[in-house]
Amino acid sequence: MTSKPVSTSHSVLSVVALPRDANHYGTVYGGTLMGLVDQAAYAAAIRHARLPVVTVCVDHLTFLCPVHIGDVMTVKASVNYVGRTSMEVGVRIETERLATGEVEHVGSAYLTMVAVDAAGHPTPVASLQLETPDDHRRFAEAQARRRGQLARVGRTAEIHHG
Ligand SMILES: CC(C)(COP(=O)(O)OP(=O)(O)OC[C@H]1O[C@@H](n2cnc3c(N)ncnc32)[C@H](O)[C@@H]1OP(=O)(O)O)[C@@H](O)C(=O)NCCC(=O)NCCS
Repeated sequence: MTSKPVSTSHSVLSVVALPRDANHYGTVYGGTLMGLVDQAAYAAAIRHARLPVVTVCVDHLTFLCPVHIGDVMTVKASVNYVGRTSMEVGVRIETERLATGEVEHVGSAYLTMVAVDAAGHPTPVASLQLETPDDHRRFAEAQARRRGQLARVGRTAEIHHG
């Protein structure tokens, strides 16, 4: 099985927030942002695996500030951790007020995606090359999250090391 650097998976979505994305207060629905998070994570995971992927769980998403109609929402994603068939993708949401250029951190989330074959069965993926100090830090943090997730659902799968 080959190995791929984290940079292979880097994915960025930028979308202008439109009235259809927002409630009657003029702020964007959490569900709209969650959809963008899932899309960015999907792109990042597929860029790493080059296989179909499904989302198996989402770890923690807190919205730190509102997004307003007319803002540019940017969602950045990359693979933090790879197991045998699963990948953890880290996602950061930012919003830019176009009138001022001010950029705010809206929230971050961690999605576990599993590569599957045509029948939907988990399929092994390439391992992850850790090249930068940030890559190593994110991998270690993802391992800790994975221990917690697997314990919560009563699973004892192997934790892979970089
Ligand atoms: C993803 C899916 C194929 C996994 O099936 P499974 O029978 O649990 O498969 P496995 O036991 O072989 O586990 C596959 C990998 O997923 C990981 N995994 C499974 N459940 C997990 C969970 N709740 N949290 C974190 N990782 C999980 C396993 O640790 C394993 O990782 P590894 O291969 O890197 O060690 C299956 O749960 C599924 O199809 N789910 C629906 C996905 C979907 O449709 N998502 C869209 C939103 S509903």
